Amino acid sequence: MQARITRYKESDRKQVKALIVNVWGRRWLAGVLHAFDNCDSFVVKLDGNVAGGMTLDWGTYMCLLDELIVDSTYRRHGIGTMLLGYAIQYAKRKKLKFVEDWVDTRNKPALTLYRKYGFRKYGSVSNLFERNDSYVHMCKSLR
Ligand SMILES: CC(C)(COP(=O)(O)OP(=O)(O)OC[C@H]1O[C@@H](n2cnc3c(N)ncnc32)[C@H](O)[C@@H]1OP(=O)(O)O)[C@@H](O)C(=O)NCCC(=O)NCCS
Repeated sequence: MQARITRYKESDRKQVKALIVNVWGRRWLAGVLHAFDNCDSFVVKLDGNVAGGMTLDWGTYMCLLDELIVDSTYRRHGIGTMLLGYAIQYAKRKKLKFVEDWVDTRNKPALTLYRKYGFRKYGSVSNLFERNDSYVHMCKSLR
């Protein structure tokens, strides 16, 4: 199967909705779908099916990787790596200085993936969405 990254389109919306529900359940659906609709968003397709996606936002120096999600059926096949590599190239093309994300401290898969590709912890924050939650600010310097 050949995985392909394409820009998110209106015609992907139904499958992206299903992807979000697969990954996060319905709780974050409205917010994550809003990110797909309003950021620079991309999907990975496998035989026409949306297997993963990400949303990118950028400003003067930073590229925010707001969402990076892979359907549970397709994990550990390099799709997350593919998306992350694309995000880094995207930010380099725009001559930005960092790619950043906030990751739940309990999210071992994401933390391992980010560390493996050169992201480092720049700080942390607690009580962001819920009492006693904890998130790490992971950044990759592009200098
Ligand atoms: C994090 C996530 C995007 C990884 O996607 P993926 O396609 O499975 O990742 P890859 O196959 O490219 O894995 C690359 C590397 O990341 C690390 N990794 C991925 N999943 C892991 C897991 N469950 N446990 C430990 N390390 C893991 C490994 O080092 C892996 O390399 P390896 O398979 O050669 O050991 C996916 O698990 C996911 O969608 N999780 C839920 C959403 C999420 O947490 N997103 C990030 C929000 S900040």
